[in-house]
Amino acid sequence: MIGLGIESSCDETAIAIVKDGTKCLSNIISSQIEMHAPFHGVVPEIASRAHLEKINFVYEKALAEADCSLREIDYIAVTVKPGLLGSLMMGASFAKSLALVSGLPIVKIDHVEAHLYAPFLEVPRPSYPFLGLLLSGGNSALYLVKGLGELEVIADTMDDACGEAFDKVATSLGLEPAYPGGPVVEKKAKEYKNNENSPLFKPLLKGRNASEIAFSFSGIKTAVIYAHQKGFSVDRICHDFQATVFELIERNLKNASQRTGIKTIVAGGGVLANSSLQNRLAILAQRENIKLICPQNKILCTDNAAMVAVLGYFIYESLGKNSHTKIKELYALDFEVDSKR
Ligand code: KG4
Repeated sequence: MIGLGIESSCDETAIAIVKDGTKCLSNIISSQIEMHAPFHGVVPEIASRAHLEKINFVYEKALAEADCSLREIDYIAVTVKPGLLGSLMMGASFAKSLALVSGLPIVKIDHVEAHLYAPFLEVPRPSYPFLGLLLSGGNSALYLVKGLGELEVIADTMDDACGEAFDKVATSLGLEPAYPGGPVVEKKAKEYKNNENSPLFKPLLKGRNASEIAFSFSGIKTAVIYAHQKGFSVDRICHDFQATVFELIERNLKNASQRTGIKTIVAGGGVLANSSLQNRLAILAQRENIKLICPQNKILCTDNAAMVAVLGYFIYESLGKNSHTKIKELYALDFEVDSKR
């Protein structure tokens, strides 16, 4: 079965062709980073216009690279929530046009859930339930995943999302490019070689309840601004900022695993592209006897359409011959997009 995935919920116009939910034949991403960088964040109007301009080109490139035609596609999967309304509408309208000319079914995809299915292009799917960790520019959340479409929130974004905190730290430290800020903060953190000093932001963690599961990063972000004003070096600030943020994430995972008794964690989202985080989580997993699954290919951590096609495959495959209503829904073209989950 060959699926065509479409992702346009934020600032990436992406289309991928995936075979049997496991083999990526093409994964084309047109990033708008350079357009949004001067504004230190995504400008919704610019994003939707850029999707409109790029989506045809991305579609043709995805088919060409996969060496396939629309006639060979079995289903279309498109992100319909959550995200920027105008951006989501571009992808959804494109999917509807393709369905109209081809008669193909459309599987409607939740972007957050799709991130948790990206690793299954690389490893076999684990059995349910598992814990799903999402760390991106818009979300820091932990879910109890009981099955397809069954995500129960354990902890959600309280203030700044994790990736957003990286972006804001990059801006406040005057780093370039400040958007997205994660890669430059990671690079600066690596340049800090002196680990003997006591970490700058560690006291912030001491004030928190050690058994809570919560994703709040705005306090650390503010502490970064003060540390910069006091004259601490940028590489040390980046190093200690990362270390404190990652310690908080580890603590949340450990607490959630202990509380639920679940020993499988699937992680996704742009922040997982950070190698220091991946290393720390791998050590935590070993220590706590947890099976940790996260994308090894960094492209699969950030927004992409392959994850949309993979989740689309699982959903499409799960619709047994008896669920006529659900199958009928796949052919309806009057669906809407939603900015929220
Ligand atoms: O998942 P994603 O591509 O888009 C959203 O759906 O938000 O995540 C983008 C976020 C940005 O905030 C970016 O700064 C962060 O992921 N990010 C990183 C790294 N690479 C990207 N954060 C920390 N370290 C990185 N290496």
